[in-house]
Amino acid sequence: MENSETNIVLIGMPGCGKSSIGHLLAQQMKRDFLDTDQLIEQKTQLPVAEIFAKHGEVFFRAQEAEIAGICSQLKGKVIATGGGMVLNAENIRQLKQTGRIYYLQRELQLLARKGRPLSSSANALEKLFEQRAALYLLAADCVVDNQGPLQQVVQAILDDFTEVFFNNEKTRSGTKKILVINGPNINMLGIREPQIYGQQTYAQLLDFIRQCAAELQLDVDCYQSNHEGALVDTIQGALGKYDGIVINPAAYTHTSIAILDALKAVQIPAVEVHLSAVQQREEFRQISYAGMACCKTIAGLGFQGYREAMVFLKSGASVPLVMIDDAQNFK
Ligand code: DQA
Repeated sequence: MENSETNIVLIGMPGCGKSSIGHLLAQQMKRDFLDTDQLIEQKTQLPVAEIFAKHGEVFFRAQEAEIAGICSQLKGKVIATGGGMVLNAENIRQLKQTGRIYYLQRELQLLARKGRPLSSSANALEKLFEQRAALYLLAADCVVDNQGPLQQVVQAILDDFTEVFFNNEKTRSGTKKILVINGPNINMLGIREPQIYGQQTYAQLLDFIRQCAAELQLDVDCYQSNHEGALVDTIQGALGKYDGIVINPAAYTHTSIAILDALKAVQIPAVEVHLSAVQQREEFRQISYAGMACCKTIAGLGFQGYREAMVFLKSGASVPLVMIDDAQNFK
């Protein structure tokens, strides 16, 4: 899971500050705070020390595994885990599905020991650390040094989380997704009437479009069909997926109300492109139905027209689509 709803999961030695840092973090992020040891206590109606004394560690670890499974189903929480959570790799695998794991690293002599069944003496604590240090590092997505003031540690986690998730989301949403749709006979470029449409093939057109997209930092998908219904399906399928459409409906430009209606239905900013200067051609090419639902028409520039359309959508796709109500005429 990779978004701002990702859980923040704190791991580390018993007494390293997971609960106090977790509380503060949750407060500042306006999130719920959960503590896996507390959840186990609630479930068993016994304090952790008593669970160990009465039922033993194996029983406790089984409870812990169950709670890890439950926590991995949650979103947008701050979760402090018991020091032994890392002992079971399956716990970590599950927690990672919905969370980013922060290891709070703290010097042994600074760890709190009161009321912790497995680290009651300095010796026991050292042994525990020897067993677990590598596991914490292995499980961690980010290691945070917890020697300084609490707020400093909280800030280090916040900075990392913002960097990883919010900035990534911004970058992702900043890249516009453009769908280029070509209609009937465009696949015959290079063969069909080269004096009008040029010598270059459809494969070369695709290369050109992809090069432009890379240069303009746009995500581009290309689609071509000789069938009106398939073009309508593709326009409908673009809803919610693309920020802009570049469309050369080819001969369907002059006949297809279905394509016009599909473009109107999805309301995705669209630019109509024609390789040839249709405005200077036969009378029957002077009407464009698709053009009535497009923000712009570019004709007569060959391949370059597709580039112009992408440039336009890159800068203008966020403005609301203005419908042209009257039939657009090339004259
Ligand atoms: C075209 C012009 C249309 O009139 C014609 O039917 C096409 C191609 C162009 O790109 O110039 O197939 O859309």
